[in-house]
Amino acid sequence: MSAKIISGTEIREAILEEIAAEVKEIKEKHSIVPGLVTILVGENPASVSYVTLKIKTAHRLGFHEVQDNQSPDISEEDLLALIDKYNKDDSIHGILVQLPLPKHIDEKKVLNAIDPDKDVDGFHPVNVGRLMIGGDEVKFAPCTPAGIQEMIIRTGVETSGAEVVVVGRSNIVGKPIANMMLQKGPGANSTVTVVHTRTKDLAAHCKRADILIVAAGVPGLVKPEWIKPGACVIDVGVNRVGEKPSAKDPGKMVAILRGDVDFDAAKEIAGSITPVPGGVGPMTITMLMKNTLKAMKFAAEIQ
Ligand code: GUN
Repeated sequence: MSAKIISGTEIREAILEEIAAEVKEIKEKHSIVPGLVTILVGENPASVSYVTLKIKTAHRLGFHEVQDNQSPDISEEDLLALIDKYNKDDSIHGILVQLPLPKHIDEKKVLNAIDPDKDVDGFHPVNVGRLMIGGDEVKFAPCTPAGIQEMIIRTGVETSGAEVVVVGRSNIVGKPIANMMLQKGPGANSTVTVVHTRTKDLAAHCKRADILIVAAGVPGLVKPEWIKPGACVIDVGVNRVGEKPSAKDPGKMVAILRGDVDFDAAKEIAGSITPVPGGVGPMTITMLMKNTLKAMKFAAEIQ
């Protein structure tokens, strides 16, 4: 039997509607709206398109949104001063510095300069530490792992006692999602294994997984025979494997995207699976909006 396809696009719409309704209610009651600034340094095409989508989504939800585009030559000192300005701006609840940054700027220094209470990416060491402790301590979970957990919950997959195998150990996806799935609480309480490039028998670990989360960045890495029948498969990979004419505008070329899992074969074995594109991808920006709303509620002490 073919797997249930977990549509990030559909889940995104449901969550965005919930956020928009809450924003409207808070605005009516408290005359305050979430404020998000995106800081983009340079004109990396992928970064431009991500930031544009973030700002468009914030606008649609009724946020106060600021798109602050900076020259690729901005000095580290000036960028740190800009962050300081937004740290002190009460109309801004979330600060996002789009990565990657140009080589002459120390990324770590920049991320550490963001007020942890405005760190809606969840990348500041204070928020990484809070996530590790878990429970009430958590302020902002990083957006992609938060989106993954939300998809698992909304699909109704049992996580308590489940064998979760995470492929990849990045700071943005692998490590935080592993940590989140082992915490106490809904959508968690799992037994977690993290596998990576030095793991001896990747296939053997994957075959045990009730929930397989793959964030390796290697197209087609996970073979269908590595999937336990009925497992939930979350494919975080977004690999550009070529170009094709756009369906909307055939004169324009668009990227051909492929996940880390062989989707067509895997969907005949898995119980549920995310597609690429249209799976985890749409969830990242959605959770950024959720984190920004959360930041505003913390700042305004709204329950
Ligand atoms: N670049 C690619 N993904 C992300 C993200 O989630 N946050 C930031 N700040 N930059 C990114």
